[in-house]
Amino acid sequence: MKVSANLVPYEDIGLGIRQYDSGLDKEVLDDIFELCRYTLPCPHHPGFQCSIFGDPRDKILKVFNHPSIQKLEESFVKCCQSYWNLEVDHEVTGWVYLSWTDSPHSKPFWHRHAEDFYRLSGVLYLTLPEDAETTWFSRHYDLEKKDFFSLPHVTNKWFIFPSMMNHLPGHPGNSNEMRICIAADYWIK
Ligand SMILES: [Fe+2]
Repeated sequence: MKVSANLVPYEDIGLGIRQYDSGLDKEVLDDIFELCRYTLPCPHHPGFQCSIFGDPRDKILKVFNHPSIQKLEESFVKCCQSYWNLEVDHEVTGWVYLSWTDSPHSKPFWHRHAEDFYRLSGVLYLTLPEDAETTWFSRHYDLEKKDFFSLPHVTNKWFIFPSMMNHLPGHPGNSNEMRICIAADYWIK
């Protein structure tokens, strides 16, 4: 474990969530878009989502090892190392989540990705329709309390947060355009 990673500039957007530039150029982002837009639903997860890097359990999308997906993974790892200011043996997993107004699959639900502090999560929106929601955060996910926090409506940024934080993927809006979200986890081995 090496304290002191290459630090990447970020914006502190609240609740300990940081916003980083992905550093990915248009060509790479276009590649990722083309690879991800035809994803099929993985039988193990709700909605249209499947793995794209890390643990290739479902292998539905078959984009593992594509150079642009590798760049996406590297950019996520770089942000996580910077967040913790730590270079450490780690594991990583990334997946894509597609949603649109008439999506026939099950609705997203409040969840978290870990029960300990040694895991970070990231979200990057590849596309975000104008009226789509981003991702909601709350300690008390009681709709009546309305004490929610949502990520800024911007694409191609990594939002990095502790995986213990409860969150809810937002609604894709009413345009029926595709909301394409890349999500990933990074943890110490
Ligand atoms: Fe999540």
